[in-house]
Amino acid sequence: MSKIISIANQKGGVGKTTTTINLAAALANLNKQVLIVDMDPQGNSSRGIGLDIVSLKKTLFEALVKLEDVNQIIKTTSFKNIDVLPSNLTLANFGPTISNVQEEISDCLKRVIKEIKKEYDYILIDCPPSLGLLTINALTASNSILIPVQCEYFAMEALAQILGTISEVKRLHNPNLEIEGFVLTMFDTHTNLSTEIAQQVRSLFKENTFISVIPRNVSIPEATAKLMPVSEYRPTSAGSLSYASLAKELLDHENRK
Ligand SMILES: Nc1ncnc2c1ncn2[C@@H]1O[C@H](COP(=O)(O)OP(=O)(O)OP(=O)(O)O)[C@@H](O)[C@H]1O
Ligand SMILES: [Mg+2]
Repeated sequence: MSKIISIANQKGGVGKTTTTINLAAALANLNKQVLIVDMDPQGNSSRGIGLDIVSLKKTLFEALVKLEDVNQIIKTTSFKNIDVLPSNLTLANFGPTISNVQEEISDCLKRVIKEIKKEYDYILIDCPPSLGLLTINALTASNSILIPVQCEYFAMEALAQILGTISEVKRLHNPNLEIEGFVLTMFDTHTNLSTEIAQQVRSLFKENTFISVIPRNVSIPEATAKLMPVSEYRPTSAGSLSYASLAKELLDHENRK
């Protein structure tokens, strides 16, 4: 059975793309077949996993809007067990250009993923920093949402907004959407603020907060700069080990069911 998880938070720079790439790699290392779906016109997860997105002739946009065969658009990567459904700036035209009136505008990604979901154990959707149509498509297509929370100012305000969107999507488009969990990212043991935010998140969402915490760790941006997951770049770094632990926790969620 494949599991489809949106990695979403409308707050920018909280670690959505980093979590998508590194959780994908950690699951791949546990022999899971993983597809990264890049639902962000910035194309950061496509680039971060090693694709040259400028030269791509076809991207997710063509599958969403022009109904082109998704199998022709998915790319393999140099990393074992990881494929990517890439995007670039053309995805910013999603919405205004859609002409397929047969279909609910929130259901496009769900239709695309349906074609290929049997081929993967996990499909991770990297969402853009907004709660617009792209994120609504992602949540409509997903079994669950994983929410990276940066241990910084205004983290809690952002969570209130995203919880509102989850309720709306459940009501209107996808009643089965679950909260996979909140993941604390860029946790810095040296700051009181990190500890404070972590405590607030845990006290509000005890059941739903992952035990694994992603520390602020320099190997993570270094790996991204080298267009590879941190598990390939520095397998024994704190960053790599934290994503391995997050992947194991995610698998435990399935075993509990
Ligand atoms: N654990 C970490 N330690 C150090 N730096 C990190 C860590 N996680 C992410 N970063 C850095 O923080 C920045 C933002 O991360 P990322 O791009 O993953 O966030 P995002 O939520 O996807 O951003 P956007 O909202 O723009 O899509 C990047 O420069 C990334 O390398
Ligand atoms: Mg991103």
